[in-house]
Parts: sequence; C-alpha cells; structure tokens
Amino acid sequence: MTKLDSTQAVIGVVGAGAMGAGIAQIAATSGRKVLIFDQREGAAETARATMLKRMQDRLAKGKTTQDAVDTLARNVHPAASLNDMAPCALVVEAIIEDLDAKRAVFSQLVDIVAADCVLASNTSSLPIGAIAKGLAQPERIAGLHFFNPVPVMKLVEVIRTPDTSDAVIAALMALSRDMGRTPVEVRDTPGFLVNFGGRAYTTEGLALVQECVASPAQIDAVMRDCCGFRMGPFELMDLTGVDVNYPVTAFVHQSHYSDPRLRSTPLHRYMLDVGQLGRKTQRGFFDYRDGATKPEAKGPDAGQPPKAVSVLEPSERLRTLLADLGVSVLDADDGASPILAAPTGEDCAALGARTGADHRRLVALDLAFDVSKRITLMTAPGNDGAILAQVAALFTPSRAVTAIADSPGFIAQRICAMVANLGCEMAQMGLAQPDDIDTAMRLGLNYPKGPLELTDAMGPDTVFGIMTQLQNLTGDDRYRPSQWLRRRAQLGLSALTR
Ligand SMILES: NC(=O)c1ccc[n+]([C@@H]2O[C@H](COP(=O)([O-])OP(=O)(O)OC[C@H]3O[C@@H](n4cnc5c(N)ncnc54)[C@H](O)[C@@H]3O)[C@@H](O)[C@H]2O)c1
Repeated sequence: MTKLDSTQAVIGVVGAGAMGAGIAQIAATSGRKVLIFDQREGAAETARATMLKRMQDRLAKGKTTQDAVDTLARNVHPAASLNDMAPCALVVEAIIEDLDAKRAVFSQLVDIVAADCVLASNTSSLPIGAIAKGLAQPERIAGLHFFNPVPVMKLVEVIRTPDTSDAVIAALMALSRDMGRTPVEVRDTPGFLVNFGGRAYTTEGLALVQECVASPAQIDAVMRDCCGFRMGPFELMDLTGVDVNYPVTAFVHQSHYSDPRLRSTPLHRYMLDVGQLGRKTQRGFFDYRDGATKPEAKGPDAGQPPKAVSVLEPSERLRTLLADLGVSVLDADDGASPILAAPTGEDCAALGARTGADHRRLVALDLAFDVSKRITLMTAPGNDGAILAQVAALFTPSRAVTAIADSPGFIAQRICAMVANLGCEMAQMGLAQPDDIDTAMRLGLNYPKGPLELTDAMGPDTVFGIMTQLQNLTGDDRYRPSQWLRRRAQLGLSALTR
C-alpha cells in the first residue's frame, strides 16, 4: 500500500539538475510539499529559484496564475541532506546517469524512508531492475521517466519491473495524472518505449543518405510536406544533438543484440567524432553559422510537359492525379513517351525487370501519402534525364518536386513503414498496451500519428507489403516484418487488435 494518493503526501526529489527541477516544479504546483536535495552545495536552492523565475515569466505572459506561483513557492523546500527525505511518500531520483551512483542513493534511501515509501528513478537508459537489485522491498521500486523540459512535456513512462507491485504502479499512474501528465505503463526494457520506438525514423533517414537516395534536406522536406511530421529526421537530430541521439541509438542497438532494425550508419558516428553535433555547435547535418543558408530540397530541372504519358499498372490514385492534371494517357506505350507508375515497396529497377517496361523512360511517383504540396519522383539507373524533366514539368506549376535515386519504397513509404513496423514490434514484445504505444510516441516525439495508427492509416497489408519488398530486394533483415504486423495484415485486422 502507498500513501501517495493524498495531496498531503510529501514528495522527495534527489538531484536538482534540469530534470529534478522540472519534476519538483510539477509536483509542487499540483499542491504537494516537495523536498529537493542535491549533493552539490547550493544546487537545490538554485533549482528552486529557477523554477520560480520560470513560473514568474509565465505569469508575466499571462500563462499562469499568481495562485500557481504562490503554490510553488510555498511547496518547494531545499533539503540539506538525504536524511530529510524521511517523511516522503515518494522519492524520485534524478541524479547523473550512473548505475553505481543511483544504487548508492537507493540503498541509503531504504534506510531513511518509511517501508511504504515508493522509490522511483528517472533514468533514461539504466534498467530499473538493476537499480533495485538486492534492495529490500523491490515491489516499491519503479521507473518514472519524464521528458525534457518536464513542465512542457506531458508524457511520463511508468516503468514496471517484474517485482513492482500493482499498487505502486497504480499510485504512480494516478499521481502522474494529478500532476497534469499522461502516464503510460511500460515494461522495464532497454530504451523503455519512446527511446526504443524513436530509432526507426532517424536511422531510416540515415540509411537513405547512406545509399545516396536523397539528401538530408530532401528527406526532411518529404517527411514534413507529405507525411505531416513537424520535423524531418535530420533537423530533429540537429535539434536534440548528435551527442545525445547517437549514444541512445548505439545503446538501444547494442542492448537488442545488434538487431539490424535498430542499426544506424557510419555518418551518424562520424558527425559525433568531428563534433558537428547540430544546433548547439552551429553545425550538424545543416549549417547554422552566421550567414549560412539552409540547403533547399532542390527539385529536378523541369522541361516541357509531355504531350502524353503511358501508365504502368494503373492505380486509382494515379488515374485521379493524372485526370486532375489534365494529362493525356496513352492506351499503350508508344516507345517514346514517359511511362509512369506508382509502386508500393518496389524500386524502378525491380518494376522494370518484372514488367519489361523500358527503365529509361520509367518514372515512379510516391502516391502513398499527401502529394498536394510535394511529390516524389524516382527513376532507375540509366534513366533518360529528359524524360524526368518532362514529368517534373507536369507538377512544378502546382507543387514542389523531389527527384530521388532508385529506392524500394521511395523516402516516405520506407521511413513510415519502418516507424510502423517498429511500433508493431513494440506491441509484439508487450512493451506497453497498443494504444499506449501510440499515445507515448505522439506525446514523446511529436509524431503526427502513433505507429499503430500509422499502420492502420497506410493499411497493415500495405505496410507488410512494403517491408517484405524491402527485405526481399535488399536482402537485409533490417526490413523483416514484425510478426505482429504479419498476423494482422494476413487476417485483415487493425494493428491495434490485441
Ligand atoms: N536531460 C534529459 O533530457 C533527460 C530526460 C529524461 C531522463 N533524464 C535522466 O534524468 C537524470 C538527470 O538528468 P539531468 O539532465 O537532470 O542531469 P543534470 O546533470 O542536469 O543533473 C543531475 C544533478 O544530480 C546531482 N547529483 C549527482 N550525483 C548526486 C548524488 N549522489 N546525490 C544527489 N545529487 C546528485 C548533480 O549535482 C546534478 O545537479 C539522468 O538519469 C538522466 O538520464 C534526462
């Protein structure tokens, strides 16, 4: 049993850095008394002053009330030593990311707090079970993983070890809600949910660059304009910093026994080695130095639009698009005009080989997502540049055009299928409930849809088809479909079906 459900419960926070100060702030503004301790002299007082300044700034902008500022000021108390945590119903540890240091804090706390005090760690990568190892009453130990900046980010992962009791999980979920967060229960596995699930988006972007399919600027533009992501994978990595996202990627990859689904590319490591970490160093995948301009997602040269085109394996979407553009479609290939196709998961080389179409005049269009702002055109090796220019000219009056090298699944199908497939794998692993996986990925990473919603929007059979094609054409098990996905695709079920 825990006392946590009462607003009289005292909450302890150990570590008054960026995360500890944020956790203390939201706990205190929820009306609870908070004791905050840091081993660094004066750090807890500084953290309190920072929290108050942050809230006062919000008050000045009319984003909070005087009452909330007063509640914070009244409730946050710097603690002089760990011994002061004795009255706490919950202590959240947010010290440096070091297993021995965290274990030392937990073993001291066990002797200080009451037997029913819940002990939680905000670690982003260490197993909660390893922190709890050997401690008495492991059922009261759990993870409480907040995201930075804590007062802004609504998600909290409540991490359950095999020993954590149901009552402790329920109490942490209820407390998180009371602090205005959206909690999601997650199994204690490397990377938990968000840091694991977030690997597909960035690493598949890097894989496309590694294969010289497209540039970072082109990939970012497609993911924003066609798929509704707020940021492309490269601007996202530049924002979080390669010094943060590379180690997390390497850690998650190693922890899963080098599963190729989670593999990054040498360029990622190279950026770290040369110190081009992103915005914080003014250079990353893009240049942020004074006077530098962000490279445009440059389109192909456009020529004169073709008089007519032929269509390979016509789809409803392709017919509609060509009808909207008023393009004349030939009954059969005339041996000279562009041949258009809208493949799913196949590249132009495979499509040409399978159908016998002239690969030099073959131009593939990615119609799997929104093409109202931007369209992706793909060609095979040895393509006729003049044909590509003709096809580009059909679109340039109405939308941006991205021309890429041959790639099974273009840019968007590939990245989205990888995000969807990893989401399905998380469901297969029982990391969290399917709808919680979606909630966590939307709130933790700002994705427009959770990965299982994305699977349903694309169609589980379509995602399965893209992954199967990618696996067959590349021979790379990075693209093996999740069994969760295969079963739902084969049975015609939603990806959210348990
Ligand atoms: N920063 C993030 O984006 C983020 C996000 C989620 C989780 N986390 C995790 O939260 C924890 C804290 O991260 P942070 O970014 O706030 O770090 P930080 O470096 O800003 O703060 C850590 C604080 O802990 C104090 N400290 C170190 N050892 C201590 C001890 N034995 N007892 C008391 N205080 C001690 C330090 O003096 C420092 O003030 C880490 O485990 C980190 O992995 C960080």
